[in-house]
Amino acid sequence: MKSFLIIAIDGGAASGKSTASATLAENLHFLHVDTGFHYRAVTFYLLKKGVALDSEKAIEKGLERLELGTEVQGQTAYLILNGKAFSLKEVRSEDVNQAVSVVAAIPYVRQFLLEYQRSQVKVARDHHFSGIVMEGRDIGSVVLRNADLRVFLYADVETRMRRRAHQGEMDSIEHRDKIDSTRKAAPLVQVPGAVMIDTTDLSKEGVVELILEKVKSINDELTSEGKFVAK
Ligand code: C5P
Repeated sequence: MKSFLIIAIDGGAASGKSTASATLAENLHFLHVDTGFHYRAVTFYLLKKGVALDSEKAIEKGLERLELGTEVQGQTAYLILNGKAFSLKEVRSEDVNQAVSVVAAIPYVRQFLLEYQRSQVKVARDHHFSGIVMEGRDIGSVVLRNADLRVFLYADVETRMRRRAHQGEMDSIEHRDKIDSTRKAAPLVQVPGAVMIDTTDLSKEGVVELILEKVKSINDELTSEGKFVAK
């Protein structure tokens, strides 16, 4: 029987989610969905529109009539807003880094993106991927609670700061993590049953290898139940 695997990867800023998710997607022929990109694109859009980000009302109004679409490029699904695509440079700017966690803490914004994020599973199926790997903060806890594998990535603060500096980015990761972990709506948490990987002293390949081992054992389990057949 042909089936489909769902992987949820959560973790703090610069914990290694994006690299691991993108590499997994490539190795397994899965669709990669970065939900951080969604919150960043919405924040960039609101900033561009001149919406006052300290007013929830203004943000709600700013999101009125905003249409969400998807563009699949290679292994990755990108969010399109009112038909417009965003560059990584735009959504990873210092302004967005500073504002994104405040915007993402607003329940209306999270609700606005939730169904869209869930709909990416169908996008992956429609594009004949073998599964989906979605990364963020609340994927295992809220967005894809039914994921076959839930991974929580951790790295110490110094390592994460070094990674960001290496990418040439100004990013107050501790500040973002604090807002993301303490907000009421869908905070960053390690859900029970999630596999925790400390990436501090691991290479990129080492992280991917550990996750692939988990995928393999889940795949063996599901295959024996006739639910999943690896490519
Ligand atoms: O993953 P990345 O660091 O690009 O995410 C940017 C921000 O988007 C996070 O700091 C967080 O505030 C928000 N986010 C979220 N929930 C997700 C993904 C990202 O709140 N699932």
